[in-house]
Amino acid sequence: MLSIFKRDYFKSATTYYQSQDYNKALQYALKAIKTDVDNIDKIMLLGNIYYILQDYEKAQTCYEKILSLDSLNICAQINYADTLIMLRRYKQAEQYLPNITVKENRLFMQAKISFAQEDFISAEKAFTAYTQLKNTDAWAWNMLSQAAQKNQHYQTSLAAALNAVDVSGGDDSHHLNLSYTIYEIAVEKGKDFVLPTLQKWHRKYYDNPIVRQSWNSFFPVSDFCKSDSQYVRKIFDEFSDSFDDTLQELEYAVPTNIAQIAKVNMADSFTKNISVLDLGCGTGLCAQTLQKIFHRASFVGVDLSPKMLEKAETKKVYKKLINDDIETYLLQQKNKYELIVAADVFTYFGDLKKIFQGLYRSLKNNGKIIFSISALFGADSMWQQHLSGRFLHHKKYIQNLLIETGFSSEKFEHCVLRKEGGNDVSGWIVWATKK
Ligand SMILES: C[S@@+](CC[C@H](N)C(=O)[O-])C[C@H]1O[C@@H](n2cnc3c(N)ncnc32)[C@H](O)[C@@H]1O
Repeated sequence: MLSIFKRDYFKSATTYYQSQDYNKALQYALKAIKTDVDNIDKIMLLGNIYYILQDYEKAQTCYEKILSLDSLNICAQINYADTLIMLRRYKQAEQYLPNITVKENRLFMQAKISFAQEDFISAEKAFTAYTQLKNTDAWAWNMLSQAAQKNQHYQTSLAAALNAVDVSGGDDSHHLNLSYTIYEIAVEKGKDFVLPTLQKWHRKYYDNPIVRQSWNSFFPVSDFCKSDSQYVRKIFDEFSDSFDDTLQELEYAVPTNIAQIAKVNMADSFTKNISVLDLGCGTGLCAQTLQKIFHRASFVGVDLSPKMLEKAETKKVYKKLINDDIETYLLQQKNKYELIVAADVFTYFGDLKKIFQGLYRSLKNNGKIIFSISALFGADSMWQQHLSGRFLHHKKYIQNLLIETGFSSEKFEHCVLRKEGGNDVSGWIVWATKK
């Protein structure tokens, strides 16, 4: 009788896995396997959970175990080779390749090994051969596009990135890849070179926010003065897992520069219980840096991307995290914060008038704002949309807007915000006080 009340651990593990709660899935998968150590479905699930949690050693052990039970298990063969790549055991992965029974799987893994070792010539060859055998694999087209771009085979790269979008049925990861590819190749070869691909893409997917944003950065229209919220949510949800690592590679300096300005100018607040608002807080890099100075401050973070907020939560710095548009959020606040920061966020807005009015209203008297802007030099306009889709602002525009809104004692510090394609991205860190 009792057994009908017994929890089905495998079912629970599968449900948590499908809803992407991998830590919970792991708990149940471990329980499920305890009494059924040779069950291939259960070992596979456990291996896949370890793989996603980036515990590749344990994932490898699971796939090895499956192969010892059934050496022809195709999924285990692929996952085993893939795990060796993630562990950077390329030689071992290559030696394992002849054991992969299906020819196209062997080719795909060969291509991945070459790609991981940055042998882009071999990777392009192998991905080309693979996509000829199996032209419905979107990730293979995506990786072919990346390899071809590295080899400066730009037409192949653009065509493969567009194929990835098409065969995936318009999946956002592939739209994003195509938007970066178009932008980067336009920087190398000029706008005209990428135009036919951009037009084809836009004709078919004009409704997608990523496509619209890309199109608008090539053909700006005057009433487009803020990045589409759906676009922002999509790119940052997609980017959230790799955001911190990528920005470290790009030598992202904005949180440190903001903290430096706060350190020099706000010494009287270091030990006070001040309220700090982190606009477009992302994964929490800025509050994490500021907390080292303002030990007793309470931080509130606002961001459009739920996945970025999930990452911010894990940093355990914020008293509150709010999923909202910063313009909407600021409209509802009054005399609340001693300090408001915005690191690399205003670059998603062209016109900043409403934002500055909201900042002013949300601050307490004598409150401070510190934010970064991406610099626009030389142009006549106040702000401009860049081919990357981001907005650049003229220093004069920000100066005038600050004064118009009622801020005083503004200071501008010129700095390198981060790298992009090996070049410096130039900007300003701006600091001002509510009169
Ligand atoms: C480049 S990231 C910077 C994140 C963080 N401030 C940092 O320095 O690491 C930009 C962030 O701004 C958020 N963002 C952009 N536009 C926004 C908007 N209108 N409202 C709320 N968040 C926005 C994005 O979701 C993303 O997390």
